[in-house]
Amino acid sequence: MNTLPLAPEPEPHEAGYSRQRAWVEVDAGAITHNAATLVGALAHGCSLMAVVKADGYGHGAVPVAEAALAGGASCFGVATLAEGVQLRRAGMSAPILVLGNLIQAEELRSCLRWQLMPTLSGMREALLCQNLAAAAGRPMLVHLKLDTGMARLGIDWQEGARLVAAIHELADVQLAGIYSHLACADAAPADDDGLTTTQQQRFETVLASLRQQQLASGCRHLANSAGTLRSRELHYDLVRVGLALYGHSPAQHLSASSALRPAMQLRARVSLIREVGSGVGVSYGHRFRTSRPSRLAVVGIGYADGVPRQLSGAISALHHGRAIPQVGAITMDQLILDATDCPELEVGSVVTLLGHDEGLSISPEDWSSRCGTIPWEILCGFKHRLPRLSLGAH
Ligand SMILES: Cc1ncc(COP(=O)(O)O)c(C=O)c1O
Repeated sequence: MNTLPLAPEPEPHEAGYSRQRAWVEVDAGAITHNAATLVGALAHGCSLMAVVKADGYGHGAVPVAEAALAGGASCFGVATLAEGVQLRRAGMSAPILVLGNLIQAEELRSCLRWQLMPTLSGMREALLCQNLAAAAGRPMLVHLKLDTGMARLGIDWQEGARLVAAIHELADVQLAGIYSHLACADAAPADDDGLTTTQQQRFETVLASLRQQQLASGCRHLANSAGTLRSRELHYDLVRVGLALYGHSPAQHLSASSALRPAMQLRARVSLIREVGSGVGVSYGHRFRTSRPSRLAVVGIGYADGVPRQLSGAISALHHGRAIPQVGAITMDQLILDATDCPELEVGSVVTLLGHDEGLSISPEDWSSRCGTIPWEILCGFKHRLPRLSLGAH
């Protein structure tokens, strides 16, 4: 049998291929702008940590890190060892704090090797660090985390000063920082039960005790995005900012605090148009039935890409300044739009599911409020099946 020679295939994520079905566009310039805007609003002497965990909140950790540095961020926060190593392998030399708990000697040894700073929540890991650092013949930099009211990671704040004193006794462990995490800094003034104030007071109590004992604390940090936008009093030496860096506000009442630019656009292509009559059931379960002769557009993106199925029938897609309703159940790989009132939509047209299009915009908050979650989860939910395309330089 004769076979035709095939032209070499591009890799699936190479340019040209990646805009075929659905993709995420990441505006590096927006990240740089947001970092610079945040840095400009920080209290005197405070620096910005760019939190780039979960692959830069779904935007791509390395391009986000580069763009944040260009905007004035001075260090990075990641959740896992592998995320820290990824940044080092990409050539990032800025300090990196691993925010998650590393409990195995192997993990802590890798931290030392890659110059990543682990977060300590107790003496057990501090002693492991000491043994590893002594064996390697070089000091290990660590941050100590205090639990001041989140009840997640960190040593109980009342034990904080004692633990700092014990860490100072370790010859090869250097306390580079001390921090805590705010649980309710995004609470609207009417719902604020004072927890943020309580957490800050507890943090301050530990710091005062350290001063009294003349124990160095290293870099002090408390605020996430909400804390950063809420009050300069929460800034200390460093703020750890995730959501706001990506251009989103952690709460409506904090959105006026800064001019942030969303960095992510989610776009997909129409793969089929079908004309149907009135009374036709659409998609699994026929949750939607046409009430007039309709023009349905099938778009190649679904819940396996990170569009929550709970949003079925509750979202729109934008095209040339028009919002086109999504109808029927969102399926694993496709969703359907009712394009009856949008005759210009055709096979191959690109629609915007998140982001802006000719004066209209759809935000992750628009989605999250409709499906009972938070914008953080929407952003982190986009799968790697969606190519990330950089919209260019900072
Ligand atoms: C310890 C810690 N600091 C800072 C952040 C950044 O939070 P945000 O995205 O709200 O700024 C996170 C994220 O969850 C975190 O876990």
